[in-house]
Amino acid sequence: MPVVPATKEAIAEAAEALARGEIVAFPTETVYGLGANARDAHAVAKVFAAKERPRFNPLIVHVPDLTTAEAYAAFDVTARKLATAFWPGPMSLVLPKRAGSGIADLVTAGLDTIALRVPNHPVAQALLAAAKLPIAAPSANRSGRVSPTMASHVATELGDIPTMILDGGPCPHGIESTVVGVAGGAPILLRLGAVPREAIEAVLGKPVPLAKQDSAIASPGQLERHYAPLTPLRLEATDVREGEALLAFGPNAPHGAMVSINLSTSGDLEEAAANLFALLRRLDESGVNAIAVMPIPERGLGEAINDRLRRAAKAR
Ligand code: TXA
Ligand code: MG
Repeated sequence: MPVVPATKEAIAEAAEALARGEIVAFPTETVYGLGANARDAHAVAKVFAAKERPRFNPLIVHVPDLTTAEAYAAFDVTARKLATAFWPGPMSLVLPKRAGSGIADLVTAGLDTIALRVPNHPVAQALLAAAKLPIAAPSANRSGRVSPTMASHVATELGDIPTMILDGGPCPHGIESTVVGVAGGAPILLRLGAVPREAIEAVLGKPVPLAKQDSAIASPGQLERHYAPLTPLRLEATDVREGEALLAFGPNAPHGAMVSINLSTSGDLEEAAANLFALLRRLDESGVNAIAVMPIPERGLGEAINDRLRRAAKAR
């Protein structure tokens, strides 16, 4: 029975498992992560094996605070501004890696940069405090599948592969962290995510460009086929066709779908982001031929939601 409520005792047990080189799934405010001791290459290899992920895709290292993060990477003025404004929270910073920091090369895929994140979820924070280790953690799904936003999703994806799946309820953001590259030169958005671009630009006082999404810098080793449900998606749908399920958004959903679920009946983009992966998963499992997705406005978190939907649609 790998799914356990994230009690103090369970968290302490999970911390011990990490220290022994085992892997543990845990909730963050974005999605569930599959964690390993970032200093232990063997443990990190278990994460890749569990996800069936290509080895060259680097992982995000989770740390409890900025002070700890500074032991692993060099922060310039911009990086410190972003960390101060958004940590703890759903932002990952890609920074120049410090030599001799002890992080396994497998974590960073041999790059001279490292992605760091300070999560703002009580269970993730408690686990970091108990383990006293940097935790490398990708989303706890098999490679190419949608990220898990509930403990039961992790169990579906990975069965009893993790030593433990700490259940902390549904993830409040439901979409992965925003990844910002600050490794020399101007900051660049490497992955759209739970912190909207506008919020970052407001803090830095200038536009932050989005890296070309299939470029080596934006997604070192990342497959285009990501966030993919098994059922084909039809985006920007304003009607529902025979055999389709509807993933609706806002109050004016068209009628007539076999199955219809709304990301947010009030048209709230944060609510939609939080629901996205769980609802895609539910429609995927409902046995329909296709999923029609209503248009989502391209502002605020809508930008990241549309990014995930376009990738999922293209994967077919
Ligand atoms: O919300 C999240 O970020 C979740 C939770 C568990 O924290 N984690 C997550 O990890 O989404 P993962 O492995 O699924 O995605 C990591 C992303 C990838 O897009 C990867 O290419 C990028 O971070 N990344 C990691 N290290 C990098 C580096 N050194 N340079 C550029 N991109 C990097
Ligand atoms: Mg992932």
